[in-house]
Amino acid sequence: MDGNTAKLDLPGLHLRDISHAYGVRRAVDRVTLSVAPGELVCLLGPSGCGKTTLLRLAAGLESLQVGSVALDGHVLAMPGREVPPEARGIGLVFQDYALFPHLDVAGNVAFGIGALPAKAREARVAETLAQVGMLDYAKAWPHELSGGQQQRVALARALAPRPRVVLMDEPFSGLDSRLRETIRDDTLHVLKESGAATLMVTHDPEEAMFMADRIAVMREGRIEQFAAPDRVYAEPASAFVTHFFGQVNEWVGKVADGRVATPFGEVDAAGHADAANVRVLIRPEALKLSRIADNAAEPACVAKVIAARLLGRSSWVHLCLGRTQKPDAHLHFHARVPGRFLPAEGDVLAVALDPREAFIFAADVPN
Ligand SMILES: Nc1ncnc2c1ncn2[C@@H]1O[C@H](COP(=O)(O)OP(=O)(O)O)[C@@H](O)[C@H]1O
Ligand SMILES: [Mg+2]
Repeated sequence: MDGNTAKLDLPGLHLRDISHAYGVRRAVDRVTLSVAPGELVCLLGPSGCGKTTLLRLAAGLESLQVGSVALDGHVLAMPGREVPPEARGIGLVFQDYALFPHLDVAGNVAFGIGALPAKAREARVAETLAQVGMLDYAKAWPHELSGGQQQRVALARALAPRPRVVLMDEPFSGLDSRLRETIRDDTLHVLKESGAATLMVTHDPEEAMFMADRIAVMREGRIEQFAAPDRVYAEPASAFVTHFFGQVNEWVGKVADGRVATPFGEVDAAGHADAANVRVLIRPEALKLSRIADNAAEPACVAKVIAARLLGRSSWVHLCLGRTQKPDAHLHFHARVPGRFLPAEGDVLAVALDPREAFIFAADVPN
């Protein structure tokens, strides 16, 4: 489903043409996006691009200025008409957990389901705590729990009322990296099981790719690209999106006959006018390195190894174009090779590029 064609009568969460300013400063700029039931959408972008503001508008924690918020065909907010946050059927999870310190774990989870009869409430609390693996801690107090346990309880509290929408703002950023991996894995499964439409904010592209069915990449209040993670990665809509997913080699070139020259050979520049200046972005893993046999002909592109480091699942190789090592930053580039590949400093390697893995953008568009 395309976020730009969201209809108000569709199930799920629909944000339509939302803009928001703090004073004269525009924080959200004409954003339209939808999240289907059972779908997890990540808002991904650098700090200050408007992610939290958008989430708070969806939650009703910020008063809507322009646009609308709808859930399952019902308008939750439009300018001058807003359903209060607690009546929206939305579960919230924030970075700082915000558990109630004066309530034990069971009390925290029961908070949003006070309207249920006692028996049903207890059963629902137990069920939700079991889902997040915290049933044994029902009588514990928030201060007795680790950060990861508190985050699990916060998720249980959000899910206990069976919300149709879950909104999460950087929910794992307070956790150390090992714990973060486990909790986000568990969280993904619990959310998928719940069937809720989930909108989650993160600034971490790897986290977004791990969690999301679709990623909305935000920049300066706007959505720059909204698509499945593999599309965003393999067909980035802009240089900004490409760069956001990790370090990239970049060259500037001029289009000639629909092609542009790179140090690794020509690549197709279809859609760009002749003589236009373009940026060519090449991910480190798109460059294939190989050793040159003693009696082999000189390869089309060679580079000299400056350094090579094993990063775990892959190796990161710093290279300099050509056989002679010149201290010129323009000739410096990086390749990522799966597994262990650690050539010696000074080794000369052949470099090949699959031209389909080069991304080309107009050079006169900033960033
Ligand atoms: N309450 C506020 N008052 C004034 N400016 C704000 C407020 N909240 C956020 N901003 C500004 O709005 C922009 C977007 O902020 P935010 O939505 O928090 O971004 P993100 O969550 O992507 O880091 C930033 O420039 C931020 O400084
Ligand atoms: Mg934020």
